[in-house]
Amino acid sequence: MAKLYINPGNPKSKINKEIYGNFSEHLGRCIYEGIFVGEDSPIPNTNGMRNDVVEALKEMKLPVLRWPGGCFADEYHWMDGIGPKENRKRMINTHWGGVVEDNSFGTHEFMELCRQLGCETYINGNLGSGTVREMSEWVEYMTFSGVSPMADLRKENGHEDAYTVDYFGVGNESWGCGGNMTPEHYANEYRRYQTYVRNYTNDHKIYKIACGPNASDYDWTDKVMKIAGNYMDGLSLHYYTLPTGNWGHKGSATDFDSAEYYKTIKNTFFMEELLTRHSAIMDQYDPAKRVGLIVDEWGTWYDVEPGTNPGFLYQQNTMRDAMVAAINLNLFNKHSDRVQMANIAQLVNVLQAVILTEGEKMILTPTYHVFKMYADHQDATLLDSSLATEKIGTEENQIPNLTESVSVAADGTITITMANLSLDASYPIEAVFAEGAATAATGTILTGAMKDHNTFDAPEVVKTADFTDITVADGKVSFTVPPCSVVKINVTM
Ligand code: AHR
Repeated sequence: MAKLYINPGNPKSKINKEIYGNFSEHLGRCIYEGIFVGEDSPIPNTNGMRNDVVEALKEMKLPVLRWPGGCFADEYHWMDGIGPKENRKRMINTHWGGVVEDNSFGTHEFMELCRQLGCETYINGNLGSGTVREMSEWVEYMTFSGVSPMADLRKENGHEDAYTVDYFGVGNESWGCGGNMTPEHYANEYRRYQTYVRNYTNDHKIYKIACGPNASDYDWTDKVMKIAGNYMDGLSLHYYTLPTGNWGHKGSATDFDSAEYYKTIKNTFFMEELLTRHSAIMDQYDPAKRVGLIVDEWGTWYDVEPGTNPGFLYQQNTMRDAMVAAINLNLFNKHSDRVQMANIAQLVNVLQAVILTEGEKMILTPTYHVFKMYADHQDATLLDSSLATEKIGTEENQIPNLTESVSVAADGTITITMANLSLDASYPIEAVFAEGAATAATGTILTGAMKDHNTFDAPEVVKTADFTDITVADGKVSFTVPPCSVVKINVTM
């Protein structure tokens, strides 16, 4: 029996709800088809947004959405996406699939989507190919409520009130698709551009995010923090899990063996080292942890689904993805003293999506179910917890058998989330509390074989169920986690 020690007397950092954020790019069928179908579509919609997708995301409690990219952000000129739709520029999305981008989804549509979802807005500005003036005017257009050329233009375009921009990214992957810059050059550009990302109201300050490192580029973090740390609220981090670790042949989303499963899980755990080492560098410049580490792109990246446009990054999603999500979310919770937001890539039909669509059909992926189960951690307080784990996997790819995190909500309910990463062993667990005694517990489980996934013909192969194998006795909570499963347990003290 493995003991999970929980210390309710030692509350740690707040787990910002934004850790459960998502990302939507003009890429493949994410925005168009996946979310936005237009008002004239036979697919039921409200102001062009699919009702089924919006409802599912509300149930998942999506807290914040990043848009319009990704690499697309540094080629996006926001003025192309406002005003009467028939006048909007048609262009080629050179980055993603070479398809026509008709700009029918622009600023107003994104804000309408977030209004329907009841989520916060994270806009990523164009530093790579846009001007300071263009970025500055976009912010003015969206957020200024007085009389000004841009505010007047927004009003002419049908929106009298200023919008709320919660987060603003100044460039994306500026070390790569966003301009191939050196850290010194980017840091100085960041200082210049962010100067004109003005706060037009004192009631709500825009949280400014600088472009952070590509995975383990610690030098980038060091230099950007040194030169520009005082001018930012957050620094981004991008890290994708590739099963093979090789961009040429990443591996299939659905066709893999147990060795590749364990390698994928091992590669996922690299996030722990990234969070620890980037945080340590940030600590040198920002010991008070004012600047957040914003993991605004993470998740699995496989070879695209056979027969689909390689530029659309469409992939299926199995129980293996559920494990990847569970590990990352537990890590973000545990590092929530520094990780202030995270955005899985991406929302619908792209990479590790929570939703897949085909015409009028929609399926929820295993990753969706993990996000929904973990929603109880949103805005809760991380608790000190520790679990004795053992090494499992293959000789080459050793991983811990279990991953967990624990939080306490404002009403005192304790939430334990745990994944058993083994493909064949069950583990009995006893949760013991350093203070107080458990009086009742309920649970939810997501379990299956590693390759199990939902399809449009069989949409409920992977779904959550009540987890009843829980005993509460002597103030302790005991349960057994089956192989390849994620559990969530709510404990009343
Ligand atoms: O999420 C897909 C792409 O991955 C994004 O556009 C880019 O920022 C990253 O390289």
